[in-house]
Amino acid sequence: MLAPAALRALDANDPLRDKRQEFILPEDTIYLDGNSLGPLSKRAQTRVASVVTQEWGDDLIASWNKHSWIDLPTRVGEKIAPLIGASPGQTVCCDSISINLYKLLGAALNLRADRSVVITQADNFPTDIYVADGLSRFLGDRKCRLKSVEAKDIIASLDETVAVLMLTQVNFRSGAVHDIEAITRRAHDAGVLVVWDLAHSAGALPLAMDDWAVDFAVGCGYKYLNGGPGAPAFVYVAERLQEDVSQPLSGWMGHAKPFAFSHDYMPGQGVQRFLTGTPNILSMASLDAALDIFADVSMPQIREKSIALGETFADCVNAKDALTELKLASPQDSQQRGSQLSYSHPQAFAIAQALIAHKVIVDFRAPDIVRFGFTPLYTSYTDVWQAVEKLAEVVRSKVYLQDKYQQRSKVT
Ligand SMILES: Cc1ncc(COP(=O)(O)O)c(C=O)c1O
Repeated sequence: MLAPAALRALDANDPLRDKRQEFILPEDTIYLDGNSLGPLSKRAQTRVASVVTQEWGDDLIASWNKHSWIDLPTRVGEKIAPLIGASPGQTVCCDSISINLYKLLGAALNLRADRSVVITQADNFPTDIYVADGLSRFLGDRKCRLKSVEAKDIIASLDETVAVLMLTQVNFRSGAVHDIEAITRRAHDAGVLVVWDLAHSAGALPLAMDDWAVDFAVGCGYKYLNGGPGAPAFVYVAERLQEDVSQPLSGWMGHAKPFAFSHDYMPGQGVQRFLTGTPNILSMASLDAALDIFADVSMPQIREKSIALGETFADCVNAKDALTELKLASPQDSQQRGSQLSYSHPQAFAIAQALIAHKVIVDFRAPDIVRFGFTPLYTSYTDVWQAVEKLAEVVRSKVYLQDKYQQRSKVT
């Protein structure tokens, strides 16, 4: 384990160290939860204030043209595109992951109308499963039959009945990472289309949608991209599919000429047709501004520091006798996990609450996981060391057994 002085030296030489000034984080707080909700940035704060005051306040409805509100979904999509390895014309920003998954699953099933099975992973994020399940109940088994399989059985499940493989790259509990390129290749060999959920990947891992021949993807605006609570998500649709594809939530914003107010739906060009209703301008403007923080950093650079932060955290945990009761629930190999470390403990909920009270903000994930997220743009090596010191203190003292740390609110 590196001594605190060595960690301070790492911070001093960190090429990303100046990025922390971009963010507004409370004093004395160590924020290891950017994988759930990215913090407020100065850019987003300024931009939202100006959109509210000048654009909405002064220019009112003229802002749709004057401030190009109407083009925000495309503009923000194109800003996200380089972060996911997509060339222009394939990414738009809109709606939530859940809603976008519905569109993409519908679109993919339509392109494989002679097949009906949708394969997903049994421990995929619940909304992904709920959306696929809802679609299959709606369409009926003949058109959409959902099968959930264990990670080890994914490839073997890809036969000639399978229309779509829908997976999340980074598992929300364990952080285990799928090899998108290899799995996509095997799916295509079996004639299966893929839909990837990049919720815990975009802004955290180097991605290459085009080079990996991905068909469809969705991702999140409010985690590593720091767009703010409920910030819109994004959709990626490979160019080669765009001419033939249609989606079930056809709405006026995806129409070729929304302001013709025609009674007949005519899909817009390419990925544009994946838009549905009026964009949420305040949230999208916030995301738009926050994305500029990525303009001068590369994803491999972010990944390199994320791995180093995670390894530092794991080394510090391993060096503490008090922490042997925490069991690593993430892959040992840092290359095999996303930008997080998860530990299981029977009192995980209370430990997370006590840590938060001690100003180390982390997540609890039912049933028994404490999840620590590492976000290289604003987390230092010293933060990570201090977080483990506080974690050891919480566990050693058993302060988490106090009643106040056992109370569960609506959001856990
Ligand atoms: C993997 C994954 N998919 C989807 C979601 C939910 O996305 P949304 O709320 O945008 O529908 C989450 C939320 O944390 C997630 O972790």
